Amino acid sequence: MRLGIYPGTFDPVTNGHLDILKRASKLFDKIIIGVAVDSDKKTLFDIDHRVEFMKDAVKDISNIEVEAFSGLLMHFTESKGAKIIIRGLRAVSDFEYEFQLALMNKNLNDSVETMFLTTSSEYTFLSSTIIKSVVKLNGEIKGLVPEKVEIALKDIYKKGD
Ligand code: COA
Repeated sequence: MRLGIYPGTFDPVTNGHLDILKRASKLFDKIIIGVAVDSDKKTLFDIDHRVEFMKDAVKDISNIEVEAFSGLLMHFTESKGAKIIIRGLRAVSDFEYEFQLALMNKNLNDSVETMFLTTSSEYTFLSSTIIKSVVKLNGEIKGLVPEKVEIALKDIYKKGD
């Protein structure tokens, strides 16, 4: 079975992540989305919310599962018996970080490969951070994130007014 791990912080999931996932789901028998508890980022949403938003966003794609993981991505990947980590590449600016991540993971386990899919052009400018910044300043994010995420974000920043 071709099994892929799609890891990320997903704080929150955006339609850019979903674009990668929908396309990857056609290339793999099964994808496990690993929502990282331990990332270097201070997150807006706690792990339960990040997992819940992701589960809801992919509920109609039958070969995708969502799980939180803590500790090293490589240990999570090994525990699932997966041999491929899937990452999205948006622009040249992603390259250096992604290259470093992929090489470190390769160093940890040489039998696991990182596979990159290029993000569709309409989402290359998207990031979770830019979404949060725009909502905070009352900007419109319709069509860029799942509806439940949009509602939750607007709710948080309305309360913060
Ligand atoms: N469309 C839109 N945005 C995208 C995207 C796409 N296709 N692909 C990535 N992004 C954005 C994300 O929104 C995120 O934006 P942000 O920085 O504003 O939050 C950014 O690109 C990258 O985030 P993401 O894809 O969620 O990955 P990450 O860099 O947050 O996650 C982990 C990195 C979780 C994979 C890494 O920290 C990890 O492996 N952690 C576990 C601990 C570990 O093993 N560490 C050692 C690693 S060698």
